[in-house]
Amino acid sequence: MKVVVLTGAGISAESGLATFRDADGLWEGHRPEDVATPEAFAYDRALVQRFYDERRAALARVQPNAAHRALADLERRLGDDFLLVTQNVDDLHERAGSRRVVHMHGRLRHVRCEECGARLEWEGTLVDEPPCPECDRPALRPDVVWFGEYPYGMDEIHAAIEQVDVFAAIGTSGVVYPAAGFVDYAHAVGAHTVALNTVATGGDFHTTYVGPATEVVPRWVEDLLAGRLAALD
Ligand code: APR
Repeated sequence: MKVVVLTGAGISAESGLATFRDADGLWEGHRPEDVATPEAFAYDRALVQRFYDERRAALARVQPNAAHRALADLERRLGDDFLLVTQNVDDLHERAGSRRVVHMHGRLRHVRCEECGARLEWEGTLVDEPPCPECDRPALRPDVVWFGEYPYGMDEIHAAIEQVDVFAAIGTSGVVYPAAGFVDYAHAVGAHTVALNTVATGGDFHTTYVGPATEVVPRWVEDLLAGRLAALD
């Protein structure tokens, strides 16, 4: 049984990391569209660097939750038949034990040099424009995919979905493409599709688990492994 899971900000909400489009809709006082774009970076570089510095620092104050851990358990059970695709730039999946993770929107604890292209792990801040460890020029930016930029890992993601039996979307509002279109690919190859969210999201999924991720993700993993998902009979 091949499984692909797509996660969004909702899986990290109960760990204390803000989602993008929930009630407040603002993100530390900024709309994502106002800071997560190349134009915003060109217009006010320091604001955008500071915005990501704050979010990178926040990672030290949060922990993975039961939903992250349940997906790490599922990977241990399924091995290469499992792929986790996340839109999240936090590292909570890895800290919960997941290894086969595609960060299609990049990662907060990584930076990219605009001059030499180096992609490096990074714990500190960027607002002071530190020199690139590879080329020494002050050209480091968050290694995060902004609106209008091409996501990472698309070939790997499409190759996995072409073979998938079960596709699950966890904690994502399904409004940002290309991730929002993965469920359509899964339907096209005859997969069983599952949505896990606090609200019954849009998008036509065969099965929906409504509730907080820390409750519904462990339950779904248990149902899946016990073969209780009807479509897999
Ligand atoms: N458990 C499960 N789902 C939750 C929880 C929770 N505790 N809390 C919120 N949610 C759901 C919301 O109902 C919503 O559907 O998580 C989803 C969060 O949606 P968004 O805030 O839009 O986040 P996401 O779908 O990850 O956004 C996709 O948009 O801004 C860009 O690049 C950014 O990766 C991000 C992309």
